[in-house]
Amino acid sequence: MRTQLAEKLGVEFPIFAFSHCRDVVAAVSRAGGFGVLGAVAFSPEQLEIELKWIDEHIEGKPYGVDVVMPMKYEGSSKDGGDLTKEAFEALIPEKHKAFVGEILRRYEVPSLPADEKAESLLGWTQSAGRSLVDVALQHPISLLANALGTPPVDVIEKAHRHNVLVASLVGTAEQAIKQVAAGVDVIVAQGTEAGGHTGEVSTMVLVPDVVDAVGPVPVLAAGGIGSGRQMAAAMALGASGVWTGSLWLAVRESDTTPALVEKLLRAKSTDTVRSRALSGKPARQLRTAWTEAWDAKDSPGTLPMPLQYMLCADAHSRIYRYADKEGTRTGELLGGAAGQIIGRMNQVRGARDVVASMVEEYVATVEMLTQLLQS
Ligand SMILES: Cc1cc2nc3c(=O)[nH]c(=O)nc-3n(C[C@H](O)[C@H](O)[C@H](O)COP(=O)(O)O)c2cc1C
Repeated sequence: MRTQLAEKLGVEFPIFAFSHCRDVVAAVSRAGGFGVLGAVAFSPEQLEIELKWIDEHIEGKPYGVDVVMPMKYEGSSKDGGDLTKEAFEALIPEKHKAFVGEILRRYEVPSLPADEKAESLLGWTQSAGRSLVDVALQHPISLLANALGTPPVDVIEKAHRHNVLVASLVGTAEQAIKQVAAGVDVIVAQGTEAGGHTGEVSTMVLVPDVVDAVGPVPVLAAGGIGSGRQMAAAMALGASGVWTGSLWLAVRESDTTPALVEKLLRAKSTDTVRSRALSGKPARQLRTAWTEAWDAKDSPGTLPMPLQYMLCADAHSRIYRYADKEGTRTGELLGGAAGQIIGRMNQVRGARDVVASMVEEYVATVEMLTQLLQS
């Protein structure tokens, strides 16, 4: 399993695990895979705390950080400058605020305690992404990943000066070609099955297209990969490894709230939807009363990024916090980014066990295919 990229990064298995949870990142890297911390939800100060913790618990194994620097969003400018938070907030129409209020009332969602406020901007802007990159590069990371567009060239150059490889998520071969031209080192070809922001092309079709378009640049296959058989398929398509996300939401080390873990374990592969309800850009997530409300006839329609999340940040915090509150319907709204692979996630396991069984099944699959050739 020692692909060139695995050799370069010093990992035993080219199994990349995206997670917002530091414990998962450290556990996967310690198990021989490569943990990647999703930083979008952290302030620079919080990210510093998370990375310091990882450095202390990862036993010197390699890991990476993922930021989201979208190329296009409401209020963006060519020079990477952004509106102030207040100016962004002023762009949110009253009828959208009223719609969110009505959903929360209908599902009896309690308010947050008076001294708590949901962080509403997140890292979904260029300037927020840049400050997270500055924090990340002060730590011994070996990969910096970016989603939703080509990372700015100066950010790529800065990462290279720190000896950090730059990866980027794409949903088409054309995007991959542009990213490589800008200096990106590793392409994550993410199919529509994936949890989070995705395009429309499936992993099976996308990966060979991207491999053929940008080879010998290494391509990681993402979307719908949760087993050794799926990993073997990805490698057969020309990938240098696999990039996984949903799988880690329900591992023992994850901080996912128990009510959501229960929903994920029960869900079938048909229980996700690609919707703009989360962030304003199409993202695959659990189908819930929340996504259905935004698709209903009386919906005002979603707002562009980053306004949709700003509009809904308080609602998401309240739903997450009170999902299992008895006597309310709050739990019906609980969801979040998740891919079709959730249909195969039926029990809580440790991260090391997930990595080991993936490797074991991968080896058995390759052996079975080799026997087919010999017979
Ligand atoms: C809960 C969740 C949140 C995600 N957030 C991000 C993110 O912030 N940045 C990013 O590059 N990808 C994000 N993704 C996508 C993952 O990086 C990965 O490409 C995807 O999960 C792979 O498909 P899979 O879910 O089928 O394993 C997210 C995925 C999930 C499930």
